[in-house]
Amino acid sequence: MCGIVGIVGKPNATEIIIKGLEKLEYRGYDSAGLFVANDTTSSLVKAQGRIKNLSDKLTPEVSGTIGIGHTRWATHGQPSEENAHPHTSQSQRLVLVHNGVIENFEELKSTYLAADTFIGETDTEIAVHVVEAFMNQGLDTKAAFKKALSVIRGSYAFGLIDKEDTETIYVAKNKSPLLVGLGDGFNVICSDAMAMLEQTNRFVELVDGEMVIVTADAIAIEDQEGHAIERESYEAQLDLTDIEKGTYPYYMLKEIDEQPAVMRRIIQNYANQEGEIQLDADLLNAMKDRDRIYIIGCGTSSHAGWVGKKIIETLTNIPVEIHLSSEFGYNMPLLSEKPFFIFLSQSGETADSRQVLVKINELNYPSLTITNVAGSTLSREATYTLLLHAGPEIAVASTKAYTAQIAVLAVLAKALGQQKGLAQAADFAFVHELGLVATAMESIINEKDLISELVAEYLTETRNAFYIGRGVDYYVSMEAALKLKEISYIQAEGFAAGELKHGTIALIEEGTPVLGIITDEVTGAHTRGNLKEVESRGAKTLVLASADLAKPTDQIVLPTVHPLLSALLTVVPTQLVAYFATLQRGYDVDKPRNLAKSVTVE
Ligand code: F6R
Repeated sequence: MCGIVGIVGKPNATEIIIKGLEKLEYRGYDSAGLFVANDTTSSLVKAQGRIKNLSDKLTPEVSGTIGIGHTRWATHGQPSEENAHPHTSQSQRLVLVHNGVIENFEELKSTYLAADTFIGETDTEIAVHVVEAFMNQGLDTKAAFKKALSVIRGSYAFGLIDKEDTETIYVAKNKSPLLVGLGDGFNVICSDAMAMLEQTNRFVELVDGEMVIVTADAIAIEDQEGHAIERESYEAQLDLTDIEKGTYPYYMLKEIDEQPAVMRRIIQNYANQEGEIQLDADLLNAMKDRDRIYIIGCGTSSHAGWVGKKIIETLTNIPVEIHLSSEFGYNMPLLSEKPFFIFLSQSGETADSRQVLVKINELNYPSLTITNVAGSTLSREATYTLLLHAGPEIAVASTKAYTAQIAVLAVLAKALGQQKGLAQAADFAFVHELGLVATAMESIINEKDLISELVAEYLTETRNAFYIGRGVDYYVSMEAALKLKEISYIQAEGFAAGELKHGTIALIEEGTPVLGIITDEVTGAHTRGNLKEVESRGAKTLVLASADLAKPTDQIVLPTVHPLLSALLTVVPTQLVAYFATLQRGYDVDKPRNLAKSVTVE
């Protein structure tokens, strides 16, 4: 999704902005641009497509001590050079980058900009014209920017430069992430700390509605009423090596391989030496008497929620409902009397989930965000936060965040069940079992050659594929299918095995791949029956089974682990299946078409 970087106070602004934009590439974008300036010159350069296209257009003259850059993921208007940011005002004096969506752009245009002409079709261009319209009424840049903020409705993170004052970046945010980073004799802005880690690891969070004046030596934060705000900076707990690929060809493979280490890190962060879970007592007290838990998330995070439902219900006796954020917000079900909300979000910035949290906060219900990003919007706005400790996930296709979400939900369920005095929670040796999962994950990760060969045999030619399973194996099937379709573009669906014969079996043709997941004795026997049904209609079946239930003909045999944690293991070969299928089709594993890593528009 769109990314912003900016710097004031260093002579090589162009280079720093390009490097920062490259660090944001993983989030998905379709065009990029930058503006740099100094006392005497300024340059605006934009390009459609990859940042490489932008770099190729840069000449030595494109230099400055101040600048802003942007990666754009199209919302209003096609991906094109005209629509790429930064955008300029009518006189070209003001230059603006923007993340988010301005809801009242048409109204702004007709109210303030009747005589203006526009280069592209974006809402951002309207915003920068509005700022200038207020300057034309006699306001200075700061006052005009502030007045524009008061009439703009929607989500935004803005970085604005006035060509007549090349020492200041004006910044504001509402619902879209934006940070200010502090340097020695320079300061930076960015939508994600990773973009500017090479420059600084000290950042200041901004709150919705605030405006910040950023110069080389100072930052001045103001609230909507113009009061000065003092805020401590924090040190980003990120390491540059976390965001490098190292010797891996793709981030996705690196992140799949990191999963055993992530499981162990979760144990280190949530358990003491004796293996007892240590969680915030306030969180457990807030949850223990709740009559229903609502897990809210999108895509892979929602799939992790389904597995979490099984674990939480088993260990705590509290019923759990799973809801898609984009549905829940505008179609809220009848809530129980004492609901508790869990927001699952790797990025902590997903707009669909955030709009639900805003409504939940208005209703005064307690909430917990489980996220990979400390200080993210969903983390700040929920009552409680638990971190995934998975390290930055760069590949668009989520892998280690999915398994980390399940593991952290299990941490929570174990602690909550024990808090409620439930025997099934006390008896569940979670830390020991998760340690076994980590070791078992390693053995699967070592089976890359086998999985690559199976992919060549089953998925090279096919147009579509099905994953089937029952219970938790069905939940993993949904995630396995999402992974396969989002990066290899094979039309893949995850089905409850018993449901196939109620319609979908009509799609089975000679050679259609059907991958069955089997980790439960009772349901596994039924799934085997369903595999026979599709085989007799021409399907080519592949079985992933746990060792205790495996038959000699099963192609992928997984170590047997605790049934509540089986999803952590069964998903790993399916991630590798998606990876190899994509590689064999020659697509970019880390950057699938049309997708963004952090989806900050609804
Ligand atoms: C798929 C994937 C997405 C995300 C979804 C929610 O691989 O990554 O389905 O899970 O966009 O994102 P977060 O978890 O950041 O809220």
